[in-house]
Order: sequence, then structure tokens, then C-alpha cells
Amino acid sequence: MTSFYELVKNRRSIRKYEDRAVEQEKIDSILRSALMSPASKRTNGWEFIVVDDRELLQKMSTCRELGSKFVADAPLAIVVCASPEKSDVWFEDASIAALIIQLAAQDLDLGSCWVQVYNRMHTETETSGEYIRSLLNIPESLEVLNIVTLGYKNEDRKPYDEEKLSYDKLHRNTF
Ligand SMILES: Cc1cc2nc3c(=O)[nH]c(=O)nc-3n(C[C@H](O)[C@H](O)[C@H](O)COP(=O)(O)O)c2cc1C
Repeated sequence: MTSFYELVKNRRSIRKYEDRAVEQEKIDSILRSALMSPASKRTNGWEFIVVDDRELLQKMSTCRELGSKFVADAPLAIVVCASPEKSDVWFEDASIAALIIQLAAQDLDLGSCWVQVYNRMHTETETSGEYIRSLLNIPESLEVLNIVTLGYKNEDRKPYDEEKLSYDKLHRNTF
């Protein structure tokens, strides 16, 4: 069994996936993990949309000019949204859930990548969030944080090298 430390060390963003569906059991396990994410005051203001429709994935891949093209070829993606009405820290709540999804995927030997939607533009006049919201019929009350792509890895990424970590970022007692 992989330790949590090994899991963190080995998790890298994966943007190329095998052309192979992810088993429903694995998807369910990832989604249950997301639902166990910690959230401020237990508000649980997040919502998760699982997308495996090829046409939708293709359209989602154009949510930004750069950085989202590979969504078109992912077998699966989870769109993470949250309600600013339910939580004043929806962004944090949703980010934690997105990372839990990524770690759960790694635990199941699946690759994943965070694709930023919030605070990004689709066109000069439409945000990436507005584009994804209308594409997936997401209620206006929700903000779209990101798209987490998922699938069997089709690229080799090296684990983190402990020798090269930014130890200069660590402080003790005072900065
Ligand atoms: C908040 C956030 C936004 C990100 N947005 C994107 C994105 O839009 N497209 C992308 O390909 N990767 C995106 N990433 C993945 C990062 O590029 C990646 O995590 C970083 O380069 C470190 O690499 P690693 O995940 O392999 O450790 C994002 C990651 C985070 C945490």
C-alpha cells in the first residue's frame, strides 16, 4: 500500500490519457472522496459535474485560449463549482475538494490535471466560468472553480525530487 507521502511525491499533472474509459467504481470512489472534503462551517456549498460526453469535453476544452486544449482528449472530467451564497470561502472549499479529487485519482493510479476556470476569460467579453456555466446548464448562483481532467496516464512524469524542493520557503518561529 502506498503511503500518503509517496502518493504526494508521485502525483504530477497528467495531460495525456489513454483512450480508455475509467471504471464507474473508480469514479464513484473519487466522488465519495470529494463529498468528504472539509468545508467551512460544514456548509458543503460545492457541486460536482462529471462529464464524459465527448462533444461536451470538446466544447469545454475551448473555455480558455491556452491551458485547456487537452480537456478535449480526456476520457473524463469533473467540473467543480461552489456557491458564494452558501459560503464566503467557497473558493477555498472548492479548491480543497478539487485537490481531494486529484489525490483520490492518484490513489487509484489515474492521472489528473487542474484546469483553471475561475478568473479566466473565454473571449474578451465572456468569462470562462460563464461559458462553462451555460454549456453545462449550471445555475447562476454557482461559480465554476475548475475542471479536473481524469484518466489512465499516457505520459511519464517524474516524481518530485526531494533534493530539489524549495527548502528556502520553510521558516521556523519567525520568517
Ligand atoms: C490553481 C491551479 C491552476 C492550474 N491551472 C492549470 C491550467 O489551467 N492548465 C493546466 O494545464 N494546468 C494547470 N494547473 C496545473 C499546474 O500547472 C501544475 O500543478 C504545476 O505546474 C505543478 O506541476 P505538478 O502538478 O505536475 O506537480 C493548475 C494548478 C493549480 C494548482
